Amino acid sequence: MMKLSRFSGVQAAVRPLIGACCLALSAVIPVHAAGNIEAGKAASATCAACHGATGNSAAPMFPSIAGQSASYLAEQLHAFRDGNRVNPIMSPQAKALTDQQILDLAAYFSAQTRTVANASTDDSIPGAHLWKFGGHSNSIAACAACHGPQGQGNQPAGFPALRGLTPQYVIESLMAYRNDQRKTEHASIMVSIAKKLSDDDMKDVAQHIATFR
Ligand code: HEC
Ligand code: HEC
Repeated sequence: MMKLSRFSGVQAAVRPLIGACCLALSAVIPVHAAGNIEAGKAASATCAACHGATGNSAAPMFPSIAGQSASYLAEQLHAFRDGNRVNPIMSPQAKALTDQQILDLAAYFSAQTRTVANASTDDSIPGAHLWKFGGHSNSIAACAACHGPQGQGNQPAGFPALRGLTPQYVIESLMAYRNDQRKTEHASIMVSIAKKLSDDDMKDVAQHIATFR
């Protein structure tokens, strides 16, 4: 399994507390151990207007962040704050966040349950094929391999959940990777994939993601 290493610094800080006997365990400590869910909840009031109180957004332009990988959420918040991911609405929201607030918010939202209100029943065949098997002619990896068969993501690896994200947001995200506009530490995985996707591939796979419950 691929493991994202952005938080190895956190793990290193925790390691001495655990003692030599348990060194191996420190590699699997969940990232949200470093964030405080209660403090995150208190800081989340300003986020609720757009992302919903529990991180389940009601509007297509605002991504749901409930139940998302904590390491992924923290990485995106750092990116908005530091200018490595730019959005005119979201960037100002992250500008004043401290590193600890980012960890707390990530812990709070990752601990919430994601609900998918209006799953589509239009299961488009081309999108489903790309999702499950990837693209053979242009060697695109299967999306399901990292994001899970039903888009549930992979928390330990930091691969984000995609179920519940609207086609509009998914297409915008894929375009942003293709155009090198998302510059997080782990964006390169998606940049190389998005550059191989046609506009139709993006629409098809976004429609398929909208069928996940
Ligand atoms: C005024 C509306 C608004 C508010 C308030 C807001 N956001 Fe956002 N947020 C957005 C929009 C729009 C995006 C999508 C940005 C993009 O497309 O790049 C976003 C994206 C995000 C993402 C990336 C999600 C992903 O799937 O990559 C995270 C994480 C996030 N917001 C967290 C927060 C947190 C935490 C707060 C509160 C401190 C907050 N937001 C407040 C509008 C808002
Ligand atoms: C090798 C693993 C891997 C594969 C295969 C993969 N992804 Fe990703 N995906 C990631 C990672 C890691 C991220 C987070 C990158 C970042 O930090 O921005 C991501 C992010 C995304 C996002 C942004 C989510 C958000 O909330 O903003 C979308 C959309 C996405 N992937 C769609 C796809 C689609 C569609 C495919 C198949 C064509 C695919 N991915 C294949 C690892 C993968």
